[in-house]
Amino acid sequence: MLEICRSLVVELHALFPTVVATERMAIDPLTLAGQMQTLLNLRGEAISNPDEGCAWTGDLHGIWQLHQHPDFQPLADEVMARVWMYLERTGFDLDQIALHLQRCWPVLSTTGQVVGRHHHPNAHVSAVVYLSGDGQGQEGALCLHARHQLNELVPGLAVGHGGPIRDHHPHNQGLWTVNPEPGLLVIFPSRLDHSVGQNNDEESLRVSISFDFVLTAQAASAPAEFLAPHPHQWQGCERQLS
Ligand SMILES: [Fe+2]
Repeated sequence: MLEICRSLVVELHALFPTVVATERMAIDPLTLAGQMQTLLNLRGEAISNPDEGCAWTGDLHGIWQLHQHPDFQPLADEVMARVWMYLERTGFDLDQIALHLQRCWPVLSTTGQVVGRHHHPNAHVSAVVYLSGDGQGQEGALCLHARHQLNELVPGLAVGHGGPIRDHHPHNQGLWTVNPEPGLLVIFPSRLDHSVGQNNDEESLRVSISFDFVLTAQAASAPAEFLAPHPHQWQGCERQLS
């Protein structure tokens, strides 16, 4: 982004962007209703993680391969296609990489529940698709957190208490929020910290599907060490018992 201060003709170059992709995908209402019912059945009796203030996440309850469930395979295929596009648009040579969907799990949040700030150290690219929400964020916005704010100059300078940096200035943005709505897809680097705000809507269950992707070299290649070989070329290591 280039900004010009007219009086002094100073050019500001906002460098090194973090790319987050969004798309409002169409979801058939009947398909959506079926998916919601399936998720409620999969959740069963448990409704938290297990702290009652923490949303129920499938990865902690054995529901982490949702992409293999027939109700969600078509959705996973759509997300995969868009992750390929995300990688192409962020500069990857698609002929040099293989993409693996490693894990897919639901997150269900009832009134008062949150998801704490975290990132996904196991993955390279993450995605989320929302099955609920009205776009207003009452049921809990997705919050993406800046890992670094170099324009803050010194960490902690923008903590608030009246300054010295003006609130919400675009060059000192530490947080970006997205309000859920059915079909909304968000794709982001897995190392980017994120959290989910509290569900303040007593009428709504917040429902989303998370995806973790890993990049490797293609199966036929001999990659240098910066890119992991294809899993077909890995060898399991037997534990030597003493
Ligand atoms: Fe997450």
